[in-house]
Amino acid sequence: MGKVVVGLAAGCAVAACVVAAVMVGRRVKRRMGWRRVLRVVEELEEGCATPVGRLRQVVDAMAVEMHAGLASEGGSKLKMLLTYVHDLPSGNEKGTFYALHLGGTNFRILRVQLGGQRSAIIGHDVDRQPIPEPLMTSTSEELFDFIAAPLKVFVGKGDNVSELSKLGKRELGFTFSFPVKQNSFSSGLLIKWTKGFAIEDTINDTVGTLAVGHYHDEDTLVAVIIGTGTNACYLERADAIIKSQGLLTTSRDMVVNVEWGNFWSSHLPRTSYDIDLDAESPNPNDQGFEKMISGMYLGDIARRVILRMSLELDVFGPDSSKLHVPFILRTPLMAAMHDDESPDLREVSRVLKDILEIPDVPLNIRKLIVKVCDIVTCRAARLAAAGIVGILKKIGRDGSGGVAGGKARPKVGSQIKMKRTVVAIEGGLYTNYTLFREYLNEAMAQILGEDVAPYVIIKVTEDGSGIGAALLAASHSASSVVDTVL
Ligand code: BGC
Repeated sequence: MGKVVVGLAAGCAVAACVVAAVMVGRRVKRRMGWRRVLRVVEELEEGCATPVGRLRQVVDAMAVEMHAGLASEGGSKLKMLLTYVHDLPSGNEKGTFYALHLGGTNFRILRVQLGGQRSAIIGHDVDRQPIPEPLMTSTSEELFDFIAAPLKVFVGKGDNVSELSKLGKRELGFTFSFPVKQNSFSSGLLIKWTKGFAIEDTINDTVGTLAVGHYHDEDTLVAVIIGTGTNACYLERADAIIKSQGLLTTSRDMVVNVEWGNFWSSHLPRTSYDIDLDAESPNPNDQGFEKMISGMYLGDIARRVILRMSLELDVFGPDSSKLHVPFILRTPLMAAMHDDESPDLREVSRVLKDILEIPDVPLNIRKLIVKVCDIVTCRAARLAAAGIVGILKKIGRDGSGGVAGGKARPKVGSQIKMKRTVVAIEGGLYTNYTLFREYLNEAMAQILGEDVAPYVIIKVTEDGSGIGAALLAASHSASSVVDTVL
């Protein structure tokens, strides 16, 4: 009897030891996994670091590349497209004007009424229609035939308000959210589809943003779009254009479409996630800056990091296959996780569960996921800020003395007289994503320094692609280069 008891006790002790060993083993494994996950995030942070010194290098590189791109076609990855837009709206325009905007998946027609004296833009009606999928890959004729009919109906409905209707012609501006190489103000050639479909024609959406900014404030010289895609344009001085273009003679300033999405510099902080995203994209080696900044990509960079974390630690569950799906984590979802201020990070749990189908992720890992979103967004916003200051540098508005001005940053009042400069910004990433906006504004102030920063004002503008195009039609109506007879 005694032997049995001893035997049982020994058996239980062995079992307990085995259980304990298994538990300890699991704990050790988890702790090691946790360390590796922490390392993934630390490495991301190091790889994405954007101290002011590095941002200033990006500023210089942007200004130098702009110079090179303007000097010769193919001289830089920056296309620096001449737009032949010389006349930005002054605010004195009067009358009824139309705009047509061809965006990613739909087109819009707008009617804008202007009362002169920088009046508020008096009402605008909008007709928005989706573009059927097959037309996105068909010929330009088919696409424009499709657009022409609703355009005619829309304009017809507004004829009672159109002062020019008696003449049988209206001013129509056309914006296009793709890179277009202009031959003149009213004609151009599409360079490359950057978002999924194709044709020929005119004004880039950033130019529309600049037009709206300039209509409201004549110190607006730069416009930036930070949304699904990203790009900038600016008003280049006539002498810089003559100098760099050689043959071109112009006594007037001209808007240049930078197409900064394609900017590249060795100073950009690039990680393995960016390299993989680029390699797996339909346009590898293109739009490198855009792939680090714009709403199209930020969510996917974060997804790649979270996927990497899930490979190091089993708390994501055995089957986190949704994490393998490209672009499943859209940037607005990432922003929602980043903005989550609830103590138990409820929104993060929701996105993980509903979108990525990963339930029950512990709080410490959810916190790390918020950190990942923060790192990715912070880098994007700060790089965009450096890009803007690069443009300011190119036109001598950053307080440094321009591209040839060297590294020293002279004090205001010493050699350089600062002028007020307004940068018009549009796009959901900037306007809807508070933390992105704060990071961008903060970086601008850091790069420019406290003496210069107050001279640079960022203003959010509304609907450059639509209203801006109508305003450009208005400012060009005197020379009637864009008259469209329907
Ligand atoms: C396009 C630009 C456009 C920008 C903003 C980019 O993907 O290349 O032409 O201005 O998106 O819509």
